[in-house]
Amino acid sequence: MQKSFDVAGKTALITGANRGIGKAIVTSFVEAGAAKVYAAVRTVATAEPLVAAFGPKVVPLELDIANERQCRAAAGIASDVEVVVNNAGVLLGAAPIAADVEKKLAGEFEVNVYGLLRVVNAFAPVLQRNGGGAFVQLNSVASLRSFADFATYCASKAAAYSLTQALRSQLAGQGTVVLSVHPGPIATDMATSAGLADIAEPASLVGDGIVASLRAGDFHHFPDSMAKELGKAYAAFAASVVEGEDD
Ligand SMILES: NC(=O)c1ccc[n+]([C@@H]2O[C@H](COP(=O)([O-])OP(=O)(O)OC[C@H]3O[C@@H](n4cnc5c(N)ncnc54)[C@H](OP(=O)(O)O)[C@@H]3O)[C@@H](O)[C@H]2O)c1
Repeated sequence: MQKSFDVAGKTALITGANRGIGKAIVTSFVEAGAAKVYAAVRTVATAEPLVAAFGPKVVPLELDIANERQCRAAAGIASDVEVVVNNAGVLLGAAPIAADVEKKLAGEFEVNVYGLLRVVNAFAPVLQRNGGGAFVQLNSVASLRSFADFATYCASKAAAYSLTQALRSQLAGQGTVVLSVHPGPIATDMATSAGLADIAEPASLVGDGIVASLRAGDFHHFPDSMAKELGKAYAAFAASVVEGEDD
């Protein structure tokens, strides 16, 4: 178990904040009493509806996580951040045997894996200077189980989960707690594009679940029904092998 982190009164930054799960996380954090939320987005104008809804405590910030220079610049501007949620991600989705498999794998690794590394390398020193804080990574049920039609996406989310485990150990040294979030199908553009709209559950489950899991000091969070089923099957391995060594 890690120490409890309460978002109330804290300054947060959420990547990919303009739509889908990112937007729901902004909403949950504001409702949970966050003092300020940087809505980190590729196109600043897309964060305007959030400012209209929540007022000046939402601060739009330009951030393409595929761009290392922008990650470092954002960390310079958002120097008061105490909790970073790396939510931005892409699903291009190819099966392992497909003409475009390498291109899609590379595109997904660029954002889902290298993007995670860019964000955490830029912001870890900021979190340390501000007392440790928390780092949250949007992984997936696809981090733990592959689906043939989206095999490249699953591989990128498995790699991101592996890095998140390493971050839990490394960032413990500076007092930063880490949360790995593993949703199943959630009602966003991504789920629609994957043909999963019919079984998708609300994005608010993810935002509210992150707030609760940070408060509980959890490392893994499984927000929706499909994810919870998988989480149940995985729990013993997670407790004894993934989390066991450091506790
Ligand atoms: N929906 C699901 O069923 C599901 C399930 C498990 C995990 N997840 C994960 O949850 C996260 C959010 O997914 P979602 O469903 O909300 O996806 P989404 O509806 O497709 O939205 C993706 C978000 O990521 C942003 N983004 C994409 N590339 C970016 C980049 N290079 N730099 C910064 N922002 C970038 C998009 O910004 P633009 O508007 O500028 O494109 C958008 O805000 C992802 O990491 C995804 O893998 C989703």
